[in-house]
Amino acid sequence: MATILITGTNKGVGLELTKIYAARGDTVYAACRDPAGASALAEVPGEVVILPLVVGDSGSVTAMAEQLAGVTIDIVINNAGMKGPEFEEQNTYAMDFDGWAETFNVNSMGPVRVMQALMPNLKQAEAAKVVTITSQMGALSLDMPAAHAYCASKAAVNKFMRLASIDLKKDGVAVGLIHPGWVQTDMGGPRADLTPQESAEGIVAVVDQLSMDSTGGFWKWNGETHDW
Ligand SMILES: NC(=O)c1ccc[n+]([C@@H]2O[C@H](COP(=O)([O-])OP(=O)(O)OC[C@H]3O[C@@H](n4cnc5c(N)ncnc54)[C@H](OP(=O)(O)O)[C@@H]3O)[C@@H](O)[C@H]2O)c1
Repeated sequence: MATILITGTNKGVGLELTKIYAARGDTVYAACRDPAGASALAEVPGEVVILPLVVGDSGSVTAMAEQLAGVTIDIVINNAGMKGPEFEEQNTYAMDFDGWAETFNVNSMGPVRVMQALMPNLKQAEAAKVVTITSQMGALSLDMPAAHAYCASKAAVNKFMRLASIDLKKDGVAVGLIHPGWVQTDMGGPRADLTPQESAEGIVAVVDQLSMDSTGGFWKWNGETHDW
């Protein structure tokens, strides 16, 4: 059985990931911004420990890591993310720069904060993995001019995690990036292709396959390799 820390677990893909891992007997540290308001998460059966975490706040990330001192963590899944300013305010002609900065803070820096803070926990594991739920919109190979701040934030986290995968080879920590598909969540909207459960089932299968042999990869939820 593995121990997994997942961010953004109160709803959407993160909630479904928590359900799947808990159902197969793993221990899940389920992090979210507002544990008191996470009613669906509180009902997930199994070994689920709900933790307060604001990935955009270094003090919050440090406090979480202190709470987990000494705990071996096999897998960190950076799932929390935001879409950023209204689309009319994140494009070539108009930009809410404060909103863009916050989007970077959450989507690009949040995963790095969490990974760095939990590195001692990961190093205790035999086959540690750090997975970031990114987006196809962060791929340079996809020309879809919308949500430019969001796209740039995901491209940035892709690049950082790719570099981290090289650095962390000597520590035995595998690093992966996964596009979850277009998912019926608050972010993806009701017309999206996949249910959160379908996306999460695919993501879990991709995480299972991640190893030091495949570290540094970028995949879709269905296991296909994603173009950078
Ligand atoms: N849905 C899609 O079609 C799609 C496509 C590609 C990639 N993704 C990525 O998939 C991941 C999960 O998204 P989802 O579809 O499950 O969306 P979701 O249902 O909207 O959930 C987003 C999660 O991120 C948290 N979050 C949002 N803003 C935050 C902030 N400023 N600081 C910290 N946490 C914040 C949310 O917490 P609160 O409830 O507290 O806000 C929630 O737990 C994200 O990284 C997203 O970029 C989604």
